[in-house]
Amino acid sequence: MGEKFILSSAERSPIFYPERQSLFRNEKAFFGSRTFSIFTKINFMNKKDLQEVYNNVKPHIHKTPVLHSRLIDDLAECKVYLKCENFQKAGAYKIRGATNAILKLSEKERSRGVVTHSSGNFAQAVSLAAKNLGVPAYIVMPTNAPKIKKSGTISYDGIITECEPTIAARERESSRIQQETGASFLHPSNDIDVIYGQGTACFELLSQETDFDYIICPVGGGGLIAGTCLFANEFSPKTKIIGAEPFEVDDAYRSLKSGKIETNATANTIADGLRTNLGSNNFPIISEHVSHIIRVSEDEIIDAMKLVWERMKIIIEPSSAVAVAAVLRETTFFKGKKVGIIISGGNVDLENLPF
Ligand SMILES: Cc1ncc(COP(=O)(O)O)c(C=O)c1O
Repeated sequence: MGEKFILSSAERSPIFYPERQSLFRNEKAFFGSRTFSIFTKINFMNKKDLQEVYNNVKPHIHKTPVLHSRLIDDLAECKVYLKCENFQKAGAYKIRGATNAILKLSEKERSRGVVTHSSGNFAQAVSLAAKNLGVPAYIVMPTNAPKIKKSGTISYDGIITECEPTIAARERESSRIQQETGASFLHPSNDIDVIYGQGTACFELLSQETDFDYIICPVGGGGLIAGTCLFANEFSPKTKIIGAEPFEVDDAYRSLKSGKIETNATANTIADGLRTNLGSNNFPIISEHVSHIIRVSEDEIIDAMKLVWERMKIIIEPSSAVAVAAVLRETTFFKGKKVGIIISGGNVDLENLPF
């Protein structure tokens, strides 16, 4: 593994290379009693339960294709399979988690609606999932969210409230709406039902291709990669899960290194879906199961995005390109391996392209 990869061997702590073991392992170290119930729930999700999550979500989503390109294989020096959630309904994997979480609400809760905050993809996903299930959706969006994501949200009847582009402002607005309407809050990446729903992309991928050495996910708030870990752990335990994030917002890298949740001081990345911080529910899952986090530069993200557009003729957004950039950056590490990449979305502002 090269210098630019995550940690030197001296830096590696056992948390990076854990044996697969009970999710209760770190319970005391990381959490108080609240997390115990979360872990209990996670612990009860065996193969059958996970299959049921997929069965529930399945009627509401597309089964997306897995694409392969010889050119990308040659450049990456390994076999790369792209799980194309850019073809998913509303253009990203997020509808999986949104649907699962709304399906878990009671009739009464559904009648009061759902509220979330999102820079775009979860906003669209919640709006569409809620519309499909006849539930009102209140969406808090930062003023700098891409135009395409705002118009998508409106087209799915999401009721948008704009806020300043800070995490604090998003949370403040969401809780105000929650109090005023009685809507159920769905966190885009830290809600446990959202996490399970997101993991169904990995479940599908494993049914479409087998024997992956690695699956790479972009990491923002951590819901996608945490869900991927939970499904991969049951259905393909030999597959290692790797995260990818921009250097500019490398909170997951730093959190795994320090053993506690770190935050991002800035949001200076083109990968708008990855600007958020890890959550308290997904961090322990990630700590337990993610073997590495690869960081990439802004130029690498743009180059990877351009490469996939040009060579594979598919539109992927910068947040997804981060995972492609990771496999292209670490060719020595991945050499000869079979690698799945979750292409998480394809919602790009065409008036604001980086190339
Ligand atoms: C396209 C895309 N990829 C990846 C992510 C990161 O997902 P998570 O926040 O669950 O880590 C997001 C989140 O918004 C996204 O929109």
